[in-house]
Amino acid sequence: MTVTGHEISRARIAEMAAREEESYRRRTPRSAELFERARGALPLGVASSFQAYDPYPLFMTDARGSRIWDSDGNEYVDFDMAFGVLAAGHSHPLLAEALQHRIANGTCYTFPVEDGITLAEEIKRRFGAALVRFSNSGTEATMDAIRVARGYTGREKVIKMEGGYHGHHDDVLVSIQPPRDAMGPVEQPNTVPASAGIPRSRLAETIVAPFNEPDMLAGILDAHAGEVAAILVEPVQFNIGVVPPEPGYLERLRELADEHGIVLIFDEVKTGVVLAYGGAYEHYGVQPDLFCLAKSIGGGIPIGAFGGRREVMAAIETLEGTPAFSADAAGSGIERTTIPGGATRVAHLGTFNGNPLSMAAGVVTLTKILTRDAYPRLYAMADRLTAGCQAVLDEYGLPGYAINVGPKGCVMFTPGRVTNYRDFIGLDAELWSAAFFYLANRGILLPPGPDDQWTLSVQHTDADVDRHIEVFRAFAAELTVRSATG
Ligand SMILES: Cc1ncc(COP(=O)(O)O)c(C=O)c1O
Repeated sequence: MTVTGHEISRARIAEMAAREEESYRRRTPRSAELFERARGALPLGVASSFQAYDPYPLFMTDARGSRIWDSDGNEYVDFDMAFGVLAAGHSHPLLAEALQHRIANGTCYTFPVEDGITLAEEIKRRFGAALVRFSNSGTEATMDAIRVARGYTGREKVIKMEGGYHGHHDDVLVSIQPPRDAMGPVEQPNTVPASAGIPRSRLAETIVAPFNEPDMLAGILDAHAGEVAAILVEPVQFNIGVVPPEPGYLERLRELADEHGIVLIFDEVKTGVVLAYGGAYEHYGVQPDLFCLAKSIGGGIPIGAFGGRREVMAAIETLEGTPAFSADAAGSGIERTTIPGGATRVAHLGTFNGNPLSMAAGVVTLTKILTRDAYPRLYAMADRLTAGCQAVLDEYGLPGYAINVGPKGCVMFTPGRVTNYRDFIGLDAELWSAAFFYLANRGILLPPGPDDQWTLSVQHTDADVDRHIEVFRAFAAELTVRSATG
């Protein structure tokens, strides 16, 4: 492959990937040692399978601001930011101070606290919502929102997009990155389990649609008329790099959901309070019926939330007056899940829901750190990083493009634009791997997989961004050095 006088050979990519992995091993012996020990106590040596990668993950000890340190004392500028949790940065001083007070005064009561009201009111304001409930993770938020949608509509099926990730419960742990030979036709993708242990009966309830293809979705909806409770979508697909919605796509989802009486759920676990003050809802100007939040709203403390329209959320209080109970529904010939004599409201429960630690963290993060005036600087830094990486790609003719939406972005190592999962499969994993280890070995830490992206925080600086670009430039220069020197 030759572009503007530079040549990138497969052999050179493989050679650099191997060399950088070797250097990673040399720099991080303590992590290797801890990993060996961890494998004796934890499957895959980690607490969440997403933390595992070859040859072994870094074990971390400290983090502050935009920096993180591994157990060998190596310092990194953190661009992973805990898979996008940390738009507030590590241990923001305001958060650290508030949490110290909280830790000294009780972290779990299972009685409600005023901070829970304050946080719900803040989320209502940002997302144009009527009612909000709290959970402890994004997984719980999408699981609960789906149950509310099912209870509200009295229908069972859920549509999710191929390549979308919504957590690890059975309804959504399907077609996340399905193998090519299993994924089926694009206009009607197969529902491919992403885990063993998911019962067939669950798989039958989840329908998969291609992202950014509203006409195909319309066909799928016609084929399942009256059966679908919810369309669940990441407004930006942030679990296959960065894949924004095509212009008009989210608006069309809104229309289709309305036409079919379906609850539209935006999974804003990655986008909420990060893309904008009011998340993707504000950024794209499309309002879902329900939205899910987690990650960034807690500034680094576990939390989840979901909320939305009053009449849908009110299913947690009573189903009376919802479509599930309407006369229309009864006469429609559609089989409803509401069992006579059964529950007349949707259960939403959890010991740690609304605990004082998470609520205090959320209040400080949203009202004192990720305030409206924080965003312009985040956008400017993100545009600077994208422009810098794009200039490097152009200069050295690397196959790929740099992209960001708000303060989240990445280099997609593929020459063509990715609009959905099937384009993403063409990504050059070896080139990505060479870049990941090269950058990590020089103090720039990216998420350990091409499916994730960098997230900037209010504690990053232009100098952090420039360092990232500088190291990426050095990587490109070394990768292409052979042909440059003949
Ligand atoms: C869009 C999206 N939804 C849901 C989840 C699940 O969140 P959690 O890991 O907090 O359960 C994730 C996690 O990465 C996510 O990216």
